[in-house]
Amino acid sequence: MVAKPWGGRFGQGTDALVEAYTESVSFDRRLWRQDIAGSKAHARMLARQGILTGEEAESLVRGLEAVAAEIEAGTFAWKAELEDVHMNIEARLTEIIGPLGGKLHTGRSRNDQVALDFRLYVDAALGEWGECLRGLVAVLVERAEEHAGTLLPGCTHMQPAQPVSLAQHLLAYAAMFRRDFERVADAKKRVRVSPLGAAALAGTTYPLDPLFTASEVGFETAFSNSMDAVSDRDFAAEGLFCASLIMMHLSRLCEEIVLWANPAFGFVALPDAFATGSSIMPQKKNPDVAELMRGRTGRVYGSLVSLLTVLKALPLAYNRDMQEDKEPFFDADDTVRASLRIMAEMLRVLGFRVERMRAALAAGFLNATELADYLAARGLPFREAHHVAGRAVALAESRGRGIEALTLAELRELSGLVDEDVFETLAYETAVARRGVRGGTGPGPVAGQIAELRRWLTRP
Ligand code: ARG
Repeated sequence: MVAKPWGGRFGQGTDALVEAYTESVSFDRRLWRQDIAGSKAHARMLARQGILTGEEAESLVRGLEAVAAEIEAGTFAWKAELEDVHMNIEARLTEIIGPLGGKLHTGRSRNDQVALDFRLYVDAALGEWGECLRGLVAVLVERAEEHAGTLLPGCTHMQPAQPVSLAQHLLAYAAMFRRDFERVADAKKRVRVSPLGAAALAGTTYPLDPLFTASEVGFETAFSNSMDAVSDRDFAAEGLFCASLIMMHLSRLCEEIVLWANPAFGFVALPDAFATGSSIMPQKKNPDVAELMRGRTGRVYGSLVSLLTVLKALPLAYNRDMQEDKEPFFDADDTVRASLRIMAEMLRVLGFRVERMRAALAAGFLNATELADYLAARGLPFREAHHVAGRAVALAESRGRGIEALTLAELRELSGLVDEDVFETLAYETAVARRGVRGGTGPGPVAGQIAELRRWLTRP
C-alpha cells in the first residue's frame, strides 16, 4: 500500500470503495503538462524569494523534467491510491530526487495548484478552438468567393423568400464563427489569471511572489482574493458557454447540410468520404457527420449545465465537488476541436449543385417582391402592388411557370403599369444585384465581406 501524503493524522487506511470513489487520477492525469509547468514556476519563485536555495530549485526543476519525460514516454506508473495527478507527480519526483521533493509543496495547497493547472488547460484549449475557428472561417470565405455568382432561395419560416447568393449564405456562418473566435479570445483574458499563492484558501505566511509565478507560466496577472482564487471556476463555465455557442452554430449549419442533402432539395452532393450507407437500403447516402455533430451539441450543452450545477450552491472556498469540473470540460474540448476540424474539411470538399439551386428559384416565385417593388416604383401604393404581384404568382402557378415566364400580355392584364423592362427586374440576378445595401446579398457588399474577412484572417 502507498502511504498517503496527507496520512499523518490517520490511523487506518482508506476503504477500497472510498479510494475508487474519490480518485481523480483516471481523468485528471490529462493535466500533467500543466501540473509540471505550474510546479516548475512555483519552485523557481520559491528560490527567487529565498525560501529555497537556487540549487534546490534547480534539482526540483530537473526532477520534474525527468517525471515529464517518463509520462511522455508512457513508462510512468499512475497510481489510483495517490488520488490525483498532483500527488502522483510529487510522489514520483520524491522517488527520483529524494526528500528534497517534499519541499516543492512549500507555501502551496492542492487547492491553488489544481486551480492553476485547470486554468492553464482551459487557456490552451480556448487557444486551440480559436485556431480551428479561423480555419473554418477561411474555408467558408474560400467557398463563398467561388460561389459569389451562385443563386439559391433564401428562406424565412423555411419557405422560399428571396433569392440570395450562396456566398451570402456561407458568409452568414463566417460571421457567426468569427464572433465565436472573438468570444473565446475575450474569455481567455479571464482565464489567464494565476491563483498560485492563494494556498488552501487564506494565502500563506511565506513571502511568495504570485505575480512572478504568474509570469513564469505565461499569465498576465495573479489573483486578487485568495478565497476567490481557489473556488472560482467561472472561467471554465465561460469556456463551456463559448463551446456551447460554437456547437449551436455548427449544429445550424449541420441542419442545413442534412436538408440540402435530401434529394427533395438536392442542393449539395455529399462526397463519399463524408457520408455513410445503409445496411438495408442500397440507395442511401447518409449525412451522418452532420447528424452526429448536431447530436453532440446537446452533449456540450450538458457539460455547461453540469458544471453550473456543480457550482451553484457551493459555499466558500474549495469544496471537493469541484473535482467534478474537469470531465465535462475535457469532453466538451474533445467534441469542439473534432467538430470544428471535420466541419472545415467537409465544407472544403462539399459539392454545391448550382443547377438545382437555380431551378428552386423559379419554383418558389422568388421574384414576387421584385414585381411588387416595380409596380410601387411606378406609383402604385405598395399594398396594391403587393396584391397585383400576388395575382401574378397565382397565375404563374396555374400555368406551371415562373413569373418571369409569363408573357407581357399576361402581366399587362394584371396591371397596365407593366412594360417590357419588367423582365429585367424579374431576373433573379437583378434581384440579388440590386441589394447593395451594407451587408446585403448584392455583389458589392458580398465582395466587401470577403475582403474584410480576409483582412481579419491575416491578422496575427
Ligand atoms: N483532485 C482535486 C480536484 O480536482 C484536487 C484538489 C484536492 N484538494 C483537496 N483539498 N482535497 O479538485
